Amino acid sequence: MTFDAFKKLCEERRSIRYFDEKPVSKEDVMRLLDVACLAPSVENLQPWRFHVIQDKKLLHHLMEQCCYGNFIEGAGTFIVVTVDYSLENSAADTVWNEKELDYSCMAAMMNLIHGATAMGLGSCWVSLYRGDVHEILKLPHGEQVVGGIMLGHYRKGEEKASNGHSRKPASDVSTFHE
Ligand SMILES: Cc1cc2nc3c(=O)[nH]c(=O)nc-3n(C[C@H](O)[C@H](O)[C@H](O)COP(=O)(O)O)c2cc1C
Repeated sequence: MTFDAFKKLCEERRSIRYFDEKPVSKEDVMRLLDVACLAPSVENLQPWRFHVIQDKKLLHHLMEQCCYGNFIEGAGTFIVVTVDYSLENSAADTVWNEKELDYSCMAAMMNLIHGATAMGLGSCWVSLYRGDVHEILKLPHGEQVVGGIMLGHYRKGEEKASNGHSRKPASDVSTFHE
């Protein structure tokens, strides 16, 4: 892949919040989870866990646990990403900053989100009330919720939807220490 092709993918990715009702196939979800698992992780611990929700009732219930996302319509698939903190003890070296387990999961989430764009699917990262989601999904004690990803087919006219895609120029947020 060329840099220009990758840049185009990054430019095309937008947070999509309104989806078509057409379901995302299990095969496509699995293909996306495969690329998510290619992400780098601290000490290669791969602490990410993916909980795929396609059941309408459960989806609706989880939608109520979104900090800002209960307006999202028609997303046939919701992936709750959790971090397995129990792995911290199995690291060969000390994980000197436990947040790095979370960062690893975020890297996986970005692989998934870019993969969705490449596949022609819309996606949106959604913040969750962690405790409630933990309870609803009956997650094991060692797992903690990192965030959610809505996934679905674009609703016509919403392909470029976003509530804030503009960016500060890189030169404004970068310093070269020479
Ligand atoms: C950590 C994180 C949490 C986010 N939480 C939400 C959310 O709860 N609801 C939502 O609609 N968008 C959420 N977003 C998406 C951002 O609003 C969006 O990325 C930002 O406005 C830039 O727009 P763009 O993704 O279309 O470029 C989140 C993004 C990140 C990275």
